[in-house]
Formats: sequence, C-alpha cells, structure tokens
Amino acid sequence: MSQFEKSILITGGAGFIGSHVIRRFVNNYPNYHIVNLDLLTYAGNLENLTDVENKTNYTFVKGDVMDTAFINQLFDKYQFDGVIHLAAESHVDRSITDPLAFLNTNILGTVTLLNAAKDHWKDFSGKMFYHISTDEVYGSLGDEGLFTETTSYDPKSPYSASKASSDHFVRAYGNTYALPYIVSNCSNNYGQNQFPEKLIPLFINNIKTGKPLPVYGDGNYTRDWLYVVDHAIAIDLIYHQGKSGDTYNIGGFNEWKNIDLIKVMCSIMDRKLNQPEGTSEGLITYVKDRPGHDRRYAIDASKINRELGWKPTVTFEEGIEITIDWYLNNSEWLENVTSGEYLKYYQKQYS
Ligand code: NAD
Ligand code: TYD
Repeated sequence: MSQFEKSILITGGAGFIGSHVIRRFVNNYPNYHIVNLDLLTYAGNLENLTDVENKTNYTFVKGDVMDTAFINQLFDKYQFDGVIHLAAESHVDRSITDPLAFLNTNILGTVTLLNAAKDHWKDFSGKMFYHISTDEVYGSLGDEGLFTETTSYDPKSPYSASKASSDHFVRAYGNTYALPYIVSNCSNNYGQNQFPEKLIPLFINNIKTGKPLPVYGDGNYTRDWLYVVDHAIAIDLIYHQGKSGDTYNIGGFNEWKNIDLIKVMCSIMDRKLNQPEGTSEGLITYVKDRPGHDRRYAIDASKINRELGWKPTVTFEEGIEITIDWYLNNSEWLENVTSGEYLKYYQKQYS
C-alpha cells in the first residue's frame, strides 16, 4: 500500500509551463506522489526543477509519450489516479518547418497516453485525464470577438492542427469509452523558464545581447498574455474542481498588439540596463511574416471565473517585470539552454 493518497502523472514537467505545474503540485500536495515524465527535448530542462528534485513525493522519469511499452510499464508501476498531460512540441515556427514532429508528439503521444489510461483504469471512479491545450485551436479572430468554450475549432497552423486533433481524441475517448477527462485551452503564457524562442524571452535575450528584434509582418498581430504561475493555479483548480467532460478557457484579460508589447519591453529593458531610452527600440527589425500567421487570439475566460472563481493574480505590469528580472539574473540558465550545453549534459546522464 502506497504512503500517498494519490499518484499523478504529469507529462512535459521539465518544460516551461510543466515545471511550474510540477512545483505547485509537489509543494502543495505532499500527500500526492507526482511523477514527471519528460523526454528532455531541447525545450525540457531539469534545471527548472532543482528546488523540488529531492522532495520525497517527486519522481522524475525520462521517457517518450509515444513509447507504448514504456508508458504501460509506468502505469503498471505507479498506478496513476490522474494524468495531467502537457508534453508537446509547442512552437508554431518549428511546426511550419517540421509538421511531422508535431503530429507524432502531440497526436500520437496523446493517443498513446489515452490508451494506457483506458486500459489500466478498469474502474474510472476517481480517475482523471486532463489535457492541457491552447486557444490556437479556435483559429484566428478579426478585430472583434472572443474565443469561448463553444467556438468552433478552426486551427490554422500545423501546431494548432495537432493540438486540435489531440483535443478531439481526448473528447472521443470520453464519449466512446467513458474515460473521465477535462480539456483546458489557454492563451499565450509568459514568465520564468520559457525557452528563448517564443516572443517574450527571445526579445529579452536579444536586447540583452544587442541582437536585432525580428518583428514578423506589420507587428499588429494580437495575443492575450497570461503569467505562467496563474496558468499553474488554474490547472490545479481545474484538476481538483473541474467538471469531468468539460472544457475551460483560460486567459489573462490582457490583449496586446505585438509591437506595443515589444515597445513596453524595450522601455523596461532600457531602464534595467541603465541605457538611454530608445536604445532597445533601435534593435526592432521588421522581417518577413510567418506563413499563415494568425491575426488575433483573445479569450473569454468568464466560465472558469464564474464556476471555479479563478482570475489572474498577477497583473501584466508585475509579471513582465518579474520575468525580465528573472532572465537578467539567470544568465547561466539562458547560456545553457541556448548553447546546447545543457542538452549534452542531461542526454549523457539519462541515456
Ligand atoms: P515547452 O515546449 O516548454 O515544454 C514541452 C515539454 O514537453 C518539454 O519539457 C519537452 O521535453 C517535453 N516533451 C516534448 N516531446 C516529448 C515526448 N515525446 N515525450 C515526453 N516529453 C516530451 O512547452 P510549454 O510552453 O510549457 O507548453 C506545455 C503545454 O501547454 C503544451 O501542451 C502546449 O501546447 C500547451 N500550451 C502552451 C502555451 C504557451 O503559451 N506556451 C499556451 C497554451 C497551451
Ligand atoms: P510566439 O511567442 O511564437 O507565440 P504564438 O505564435 O504561439 O502566439 O509568438 C507570439 C507573437 O509574436 C506571434 O504573433 C508571432 C510574433 N513573433 C514575432 O513577431 N517575432 C518573433 O521572433 C517571434 C518568435 C514571434
């Protein structure tokens, strides 16, 4: 008999959002055993989790969500009560150059986990398969309107098509096999530990190192931004209090045109680096647009607010300061993830 009340598999826990979810669950639920399954791709980094790695209710396992035999063994060994599935290929630009990698990890990987859950959970009572997804499945908005939980899916990039497909598979397993599930679709996250290929950490790093800031197209694309810890709080709440079979949209009530956001970041960076106002803006370089670039994403997060009482706790003004400070104070982390040194180290350690 296990000493723990629950055993939970969190996939992709060495990545950006996953590491914040792992930290929250390991610290807040000492009575749960948290198993972090992560392949440690370029985006997964155990340095994100040094503060929890020695906790007795935490276990890291390196492995691939597509590896059926391995996933089955894991379910046998740890007898999971719940799965919180974050492992994915997550960057739109990479999905444009290598769509198959997204099909494999995001669709096949999700179905592999669904099969394991379906086959191992003979009794679905007390079980939950929670899929972490994106608002990008809804497609692109014009100047008006918001994505709600009932907005039709209309994915437009290989990334969003793969996430939409995996969402559909999760719901199909709920419908066909009565697998208990929840899906949440969140807007763009920012914060500590995000790999510097996404807009905010890439631009912080480029300003720091005096490199150009590549603004795609006219820069008037709009995104809703949420501080990552608030997403982790929402995931905790949904896992524990969400209704099985439901979908929850999560957003920051915080829309920005890219160029306006970039200018705010430039101004903060000038202040923090003690350089004349306008220095960072001088690095802005308009470049060729991303193919099929979605114009606007905006989330109506009123359901999770109304039903579960969630709302963001950190304003954008606070969150962006915390984030910039973190990247300025963690040069070694940035150096490691951008140089590939980290990858060499962990690939050797876990091979
Ligand atoms: P990330 O790229 O930072 O991390 C992904 C993690 O998954 C990495 O640790 C990586 O090693 C791991 N991984 C990749 N392939 C794997 C495989 N085959 N087997 C096991 N592990 C594997 O991603 P993120 O930004 O933290 O996003 C996490 C999840 O949240 C994704 O499902 C993403 O679609 C979703 N999401 C992200 C955002 C965002 O703004 N970043 C917004 C909404 C939803
Ligand atoms: P990104 O962080 O890649 O997230 P997503 O595409 O999933 O929304 O990009 C956010 C926005 O910033 C998006 O409109 C594309 C734009 N962008 C740039 O203009 N330049 C860049 O170098 C990057 C990475 C993104």
